[in-house]
Amino acid sequence: MNRRKMSLSLIMGTIFLMFPLLAGAEESICIACHNDVTPGIVKDFLSGAMGKSGMDCSDCHGSEHKTANDSSRVQLPTEKTCQKCHEIQVEQYMSGKHSLGWIALTAMPETGFQPHAYIQGLKGCGGCHKIGVRDEKTKAEGRYGSPCDSCHTRHKFSKEEANSPQACRTCHMGFDHPQWEMWSSSKHGVIYSTEGDTGRAPKCQTCHMVEGDHRVMTAWGFLALRLPEEDEEWMGYRTTILKGLHILDPEGNPTPRLDVVKAGKVARLSKEEWQAERDSMLDVCANCHSKSYARRNLKNGDEMIKEADKLMAEAIEIVADLYERGLIKPQEGKAAYPDLLAFYGAVTPIEQTLYVMFLEHRMRAFQGAFHMNPDYTTWYGLAELNKDLVEIKAEAERMIRESERK
Ligand code: HEC
Ligand code: HEC
Ligand code: HEC
Ligand code: HEC
Ligand code: HEC
Ligand code: HEC
Ligand code: HEC
Ligand code: HEC
Repeated sequence: MNRRKMSLSLIMGTIFLMFPLLAGAEESICIACHNDVTPGIVKDFLSGAMGKSGMDCSDCHGSEHKTANDSSRVQLPTEKTCQKCHEIQVEQYMSGKHSLGWIALTAMPETGFQPHAYIQGLKGCGGCHKIGVRDEKTKAEGRYGSPCDSCHTRHKFSKEEANSPQACRTCHMGFDHPQWEMWSSSKHGVIYSTEGDTGRAPKCQTCHMVEGDHRVMTAWGFLALRLPEEDEEWMGYRTTILKGLHILDPEGNPTPRLDVVKAGKVARLSKEEWQAERDSMLDVCANCHSKSYARRNLKNGDEMIKEADKLMAEAIEIVADLYERGLIKPQEGKAAYPDLLAFYGAVTPIEQTLYVMFLEHRMRAFQGAFHMNPDYTTWYGLAELNKDLVEIKAEAERMIRESERK
């Protein structure tokens, strides 16, 4: 071996020895041990942008836990952990609806009676609402649940995954908010599924996370309770619905639930607030359609809410009358009025029908309209609302007849 070759192999050897140090992350004690303990996690992490950039497990989980027996000392990351390096995304997230997901959940009257596994254990409501910031009390009750891995799942934390509409699917589906089903079978979704992500048709992120903005918020929101309402006829229906939500008491005065509505940004509470969200949505449509076309379409969506509210108000009043007649007794501590937010905790069959009418069928009537899905608006929405009303009328008449016979 000549001198030149020897020094070359020396250099190579040194580089080889240094490699683990240069690769940084690969040599951390966390990764060394977790290669055996949780190989899938290590593989995922190293395949993502953060792993490739040389970050280590300890950047998010701390370094308190070092052996196989002290893993209870590990830190479980929250949005604050990510904030250290991703200030912009966390700020946007905090100003939008997703960060409020846990507030909405725990404000529900029935949440307190649900099984632990269902809320804190993330098996039911908690499994989706963990996208919101969890308060300290909740964290003490349930070890796991962090918001930022809701769309870019750990430990790859991929931007590409979060950018696919499938990232929204687990939560925005099913009974009361089938946006996945509505969008994916609309013309927008069908173009996406036949042509792929070409940008010709919009996906969820195109309309709701413009340019990667982590602040999600719509004009109407989930419950579609705009205030103030200039259309007097419509305001009449809305007042009845607000009573049904116990945001107003039966006499029409605000209750403490109004504070929850404010804290959870459940409704837009000024004309300007509502209009600002509507205008930014119209700007999105205008990338591909004329503004007039888009405006007319969204206006027709608004009209569907009014249609649904009319049927809803009639149904609520029928059930409220049964309370007035004493045929339904109020639950302890509650006003003598049906409570739509009791959900499936409602104790009479007629109130079960009423809550399904509200949460499933009313939602579908307008959500379908906003997601260009005539089938949802018609057969899963308006048609069902009419059917519910017929059933509620018949059941109320039966209850009244029965009471008169006694
Ligand atoms: C000597 C081996 C070893 C080392 C070193 C090690 N861990 Fe662990 N770690 C474990 C074991 C074992 C568990 C428990 C696995 C289980 O519950 O099945 C664990 C659990 C965890 C958990 C999950 C805790 C939970 O409650 O689910 C995290 C997060 C974690 N380790 C991160 C780290 C980080 C970060 C480091 C480096 C600072 C590290 N580990 C170093 C062995 C190790
Ligand atoms: C960018 C931040 C980040 C980094 C870096 C990170 N994790 Fe995590 N890890 C998380 C988050 C977020 C959770 C979910 C916490 C929760 O549910 O409360 C988590 C949860 C875990 C869990 C428990 C959940 C499960 O699926 O078993 C283990 C184990 C774990 N991490 C191991 C690791 C290991 C090993 C590394 C390094 C290879 C690592 N983490 C690096 C953010 C991170
Ligand atoms: C110590 C700083 C640090 C922390 C803490 C941190 N990140 Fe990162 N993150 C980075 C860096 C640096 C990159 C850019 C890596 C690159 O592109 O080379 C990155 C990139 C990302 C990306 C883009 C990935 C891609 O596919 O391009 C996502 C998503 C992300 N981080 C999410 C998170 C989440 C969620 C948390 C909290 C659980 C978190 N990060 C915590 C430093 C951090
Ligand atoms: C499959 C995931 C999932 C489950 C399970 C789930 N939710 Fe939700 N929840 C959502 C989504 C998504 C929204 C927003 C829907 C929308 O705006 O159309 C939402 C909205 C809400 C809202 C309205 C928030 C607002 O500000 O308008 C309340 C209240 C609520 N959920 C309570 C509950 C309760 C209570 C449970 C359990 C009985 C539950 N959720 C179960 C995903 C879920
Ligand atoms: C509702 C889904 C969703 C949630 C929840 C979410 N993200 Fe994202 N995130 C996305 C999408 C979509 C993108 C891709 C944006 C793009 O390509 O413009 C993204 C991209 C990112 C990026 C890469 C930005 C860039 O331009 O490279 C970072 C960093 C990030 N998110 C951090 C976070 C943090 C921190 C949280 C928790 C507060 C979080 N994300 C929660 C959907 C989400
Ligand atoms: C073409 C744009 C567009 C696409 C694509 C889109 N949405 Fe929407 N979305 C809207 C409009 C418009 C509204 C109603 C806005 C308003 O209140 O004025 C809305 C409302 C919502 C709401 C509030 C409740 C409701 O349904 O009215 C949620 C939640 C939502 N969309 C989620 C999604 C998800 C998840 C996807 C993908 C599966 C998606 N959207 C795809 C335009 C879109
Ligand atoms: C882990 C579950 C989860 C995932 C994943 C998720 N969301 Fe949500 N989303 C929710 C919940 C819960 C709410 C209601 C938050 C609240 O109570 O304020 C919500 C609310 C919204 C709203 C606000 C509706 C309003 O009231 O104005 C929009 C828009 C939205 N999500 C869009 C998306 C999009 C787009 C994606 C995918 C990129 C996505 N979400 C992914 C659970 C999720
Ligand atoms: C990225 C481009 C793009 C955006 C953004 C977009 N659309 Fe579309 N839209 C299309 C394409 C392409 C079609 C199919 C061709 C057509 O019918 O115009 C379509 C179809 C439609 C249709 C006809 C559906 C049917 O069943 O025939 C309506 C209504 C519609 N869009 C409304 C909207 C509204 C309202 C918005 C904003 C909330 C919007 N679009 C945003 C590209 C877009």
